[in-house]
Amino acid sequence: MTDVQRSLVLVKPDGVRRGLSGEVLRRIETKGYTLAAVELRTATAEILADHYAEHEGKPFYGPLVEFMLSGPVLAVVIEGERCIEGFRALAGATDPTVALPGTIRGDLGRDWGLAVQQNIVHGSDSPESAAREIGIWFPNL
Ligand code: TYD
Ligand code: MG
Repeated sequence: MTDVQRSLVLVKPDGVRRGLSGEVLRRIETKGYTLAAVELRTATAEILADHYAEHEGKPFYGPLVEFMLSGPVLAVVIEGERCIEGFRALAGATDPTVALPGTIRGDLGRDWGLAVQQNIVHGSDSPESAAREIGIWFPNL
């Protein structure tokens, strides 16, 4: 049965700073997903409060928001059959030290000894999250 989805992907400030935006887009496109929107953006405290609402109160929340405000992000909407799960597989585990080689985080990330995992990309984790996050970053899409 067909299940064409959209997912919100962010190249986080570490990825943009390190010049990895093109590499992330290349992996998305070579996997076969379509780009529905791509925009270099600077996050705001309001956007991040919405985007990371599920993590409010956790020890890494403050450093996470500060990190996400430290530079521009590439906000991307991808489209394709089961692309939500598919992009999470491309991204790899949250902790880049143990993310498997072959994944974005496993190939391109590492631990930098900082208060927050700087792991290059964000990807929506469910259809509900994707709809919510696309509404936050691209309200007119
Ligand atoms: P989470 O949604 O759990 O991970 P993912 O990005 O894989 O969906 O967490 C959001 C971000 O918060 C994560 O990408 C990096 C940061 N984070 C930490 O810095 N330390 C942690 O222990 C966790 C769980 C997340
Ligand atoms: Mg998450």
